[in-house]
Amino acid sequence: MATRKERLFYKAVRRVAAAVNSDLELKQALNTIVRNTARPMNAAASLVLLDSTHTKLIHSSSCGLPQFYLKKGILDPSKSLSEVMTNQVVAISDVSQDSRIQYPNLAAQAGITAILGAPLIIDDAAVGSLRVYTKQHVEFSNQDISFVTTMANLAAVAIHYHEALDKSVQLRRGKNESEIGATPLKRARSVTFAHPSEEEFAQILDFYNIEWVYEPQSFPLAWDGNRITEMFTPDFYLPGLDLYIELTTLKQSLVTQKNRKLRHLRELYPDIKITLLYKKDFDRLLAKFGYGPLAQDRGHGVGEVLYSSAEIQRKVRELAKNISKDYSNRHPVMVGVLRGVFCFMADLIRQMTIPLDVDFMAISYYGGEDSSIVKITKDIDLNVAGRPLVLVEDIVDTGLTLNVVIKHLEAKGVSDLAVCTLLDKRTRRLVDVPLRYVGFEVPDQFVVGYGLDYMEEYRNLPFISFLSESRTLKRKVKRRKV
Ligand code: IMP
Ligand code: MG
Repeated sequence: MATRKERLFYKAVRRVAAAVNSDLELKQALNTIVRNTARPMNAAASLVLLDSTHTKLIHSSSCGLPQFYLKKGILDPSKSLSEVMTNQVVAISDVSQDSRIQYPNLAAQAGITAILGAPLIIDDAAVGSLRVYTKQHVEFSNQDISFVTTMANLAAVAIHYHEALDKSVQLRRGKNESEIGATPLKRARSVTFAHPSEEEFAQILDFYNIEWVYEPQSFPLAWDGNRITEMFTPDFYLPGLDLYIELTTLKQSLVTQKNRKLRHLRELYPDIKITLLYKKDFDRLLAKFGYGPLAQDRGHGVGEVLYSSAEIQRKVRELAKNISKDYSNRHPVMVGVLRGVFCFMADLIRQMTIPLDVDFMAISYYGGEDSSIVKITKDIDLNVAGRPLVLVEDIVDTGLTLNVVIKHLEAKGVSDLAVCTLLDKRTRRLVDVPLRYVGFEVPDQFVVGYGLDYMEEYRNLPFISFLSESRTLKRKVKRRKV
């Protein structure tokens, strides 16, 4: 005779199998799994998934856990139920006595006593885990373990199935294999944004293939005894960059308040990296894709000269000398990203005094439906495996473009990749890309000339200048090469 618990397990597995085998969205299927795991176990449950760097675990679905516990922080797979990552089940009957719990105090506050975690295994590797949390002291039985393992297996099947489905759709749309790729974390995501600008920002991140999580963590800022009285929840977390981003597209009065909170946050949590994105920065990002207030019409007029032709040439000689010294006997491949770089590249290599190869790549931003990732419209032709590569850029602004290009080139197995940029608009950096050679650090204003354009104009100027003051910057960068 089956016990009551066995009957509950059986029913739950049947319900979940039906959900996995239906046309439910992945997120819904995973929610169903988490709910149907929690109920018969008389416990809370959650599903955590690895990010693309495999160094962070993020809560993806949950049931019965308080917000403060879910938003407690990014989990470290080597600290939180670590054996799960080697495909083992972890059963902890008393969390207060166990070192495999990353946030024991918060677990205690949430009333959690015992935890059972089963790995989600895809292609022999754990991509996350299904976890059960009980308030009572429990010695998990073999039956409990096999039930949760079955549910974890079903979750892995669901993810794997959606991966295959996605892939076939993308292939049919003409994407090539290397352009397709999403982590289980990304696939399992479904988000309700509090503000439209957040959604737009998420689309931009997707475009640059930067993994993001929406509001995964709340940082306590003030306490009254044990009780938290003030918290700060950054809008986004980018696991690959270990960076939090807060959008401040709001009124100036609110920005001041936010700045205060942020200062406080940095004092209390000096180790976290957080960037504030102002309305101005955000509008410029949108303009790159042809959207937003800055993308409307065309401005004209060259303003004040920032660097004369002679100043540029002096700087280029200096950079060429440094690179030639660092790369003597190494025969580097100099790679430029078209089109803005053509003047700089031509001058730079002619001042270099060592043997070298030259190649170019081109990327473009496409608006419209299929704009899921940055498109490489021209790849390099040379084989760069095992060779030192110097990536040459005209200007680094947010760093988003460079980040994509670096990843692309690194995947070709170069022995060493250094970046040389003529201009560095450092104050606008969003993604921290390492720059080995920098010509000039420029202020946060749009510049043109010496290859750099504004809507394709001004590339032929021999100097670098600002756009004229009288006209505000109105850039439109749809279907445009950088
Ligand atoms: P990022 O991805 O924001 O770093 O953008 C870098 C690209 O944006 C550069 O390669 C340029 O094509 C373009 N860009 C950024 N700032 C300027 C500027 O001030 N003048 C001209 N082009 C710019
Ligand atoms: Mg460029």
